[in-house]
Amino acid sequence: KKAKPTIIVIFGATGDLTWRKLVPAMYNLYLDQWVDPHFAIIGVGRSEMSNEGFRSHLLDGINKFSRTGKAKPEVWEVFAQTIFYQKADYDQDSTYTSLKKQITALEDEWGGAVNRVFYMSLPPQHVQQIATKVGEAGLAPDDKLSRIVFEKPFGHDLESAKKLNQFLLTLFHECQIYRIDHYLGKETVQNIMAFRFANAMFEPLWNRNYIDHVQITVSEQLGVEDRGSYYDHAGALRDMIQNHLLQLLCLIAMEPPVSFDADEVRNRKVDVLHALRKISRDEVHHYAVRGQYGAGWIEGKKVPGYREEKGVLPDSNTDTFAAFKFFIDNWRWSNIPFYLRTGKRMSESISVITIQFKPVPHQSFPSQATENWQPNRLILNIQPQMGIRLRFQAKRPGLKMQLNPVDMLFNYKENYPSGSPEAYETLLLDVMLGDATLFMRADQVEAAWEVLMPILHKWEANPSISFPNYASGMQGPEESEALIARDGHNWIALPLEK
Ligand code: BG6
Repeated sequence: KKAKPTIIVIFGATGDLTWRKLVPAMYNLYLDQWVDPHFAIIGVGRSEMSNEGFRSHLLDGINKFSRTGKAKPEVWEVFAQTIFYQKADYDQDSTYTSLKKQITALEDEWGGAVNRVFYMSLPPQHVQQIATKVGEAGLAPDDKLSRIVFEKPFGHDLESAKKLNQFLLTLFHECQIYRIDHYLGKETVQNIMAFRFANAMFEPLWNRNYIDHVQITVSEQLGVEDRGSYYDHAGALRDMIQNHLLQLLCLIAMEPPVSFDADEVRNRKVDVLHALRKISRDEVHHYAVRGQYGAGWIEGKKVPGYREEKGVLPDSNTDTFAAFKFFIDNWRWSNIPFYLRTGKRMSESISVITIQFKPVPHQSFPSQATENWQPNRLILNIQPQMGIRLRFQAKRPGLKMQLNPVDMLFNYKENYPSGSPEAYETLLLDVMLGDATLFMRADQVEAAWEVLMPILHKWEANPSISFPNYASGMQGPEESEALIARDGHNWIALPLEK
């Protein structure tokens, strides 16, 4: 399904996201003819820049970051003509009147109203003001055609998220609001639903009777880079757990949807968030671990500690690592632990979900046959390698009965050598199509905050005195190992191939 004629207005157009992600994604959609010939990008930013200057800045971004490599000159030439730049003061009404003029002129030229997408690609402090002006200027009049896209963070806590949601509803309808969680656009993340609900053989095992526990790891070798001043007010819990990791948990734990209707899927996901067991403030230390990286080594290169990073306070107590044990109090998952962890400056960059099955009810083999026994595991590799591994026991060839774990592997790279779209391609196309399935609804965002609030409160009330508590290049703090070791397990984050 191709997108209808569309005008995308990007606020914060000179920023990193537009340069690295949004426009390379739009270019690829254009290249593969997913967009209508009647298409325009209007970049709005505070810097002085000409249309030409803006275009060549974006071309540089495409050449550096597009998954399809350098821009093809003949495609770029046409695509560039769809891109415009407007220098603006976000608080001036004139900004919005002139945008309105520009949009209406294009619509008149194309013969009628088209999709209007307003993309907030700027820090949260500007978002409310711009959304208000967009609403008040009547730029998004038609709830079928006009949409407004928000990047995270969506609120700073439950209260601010609620306020922001309520406020936005005074200007727009919920169906116009697209809250991005870019993990949901990743190919392997979308595949979780395909894997679970398009195959009959896994679903009967997908419950507390057969599954022992679930682990979700999203670890990054990167530090905070040049985002210290944002990150120091956020931390791993707000930056990753509240959105990306809880969304992954929802996809693993949700009930089968009746259809792929956006609200049906989102209802099933929000059910999971509602069923997450609330951790009381007194119990936080049993269920949650925080960490902050110190100096160390990543791939043989010395890197500074978090407190030495630009934009970070020298005595910062912000978490750059967080690990949790959650329970989902419902019929399917009662008392099955879900372990989640994420961290920066970890030994490896890997996102992986491990589903560990229960042992066989009775071990028929003699003990020497089972020396290498491992539980059955289903491992979903999200990134950088993409694939699925099913680990089971087999007889090792030989005259003795000896069991050995072996793997069945599905590797994207081998099966689909031409590659997959970037998350932002999928998500931008969905915004243009008006499909909100992969976007966060207001109640999802709030339900996720609600679960985390006691932890946030506890952590904020008790600044950590032990930070930094893991060296860069390690697996996070020791307490994170203890969190899972207490239950007789350890963290597993197997790459798809070594
Ligand atoms: C972002 C976070 O949402 O996701 C970053 O703000 C993080 O801190 C990034 O690095 C990770 O995304 P990806 O796609 O590289 O796994």
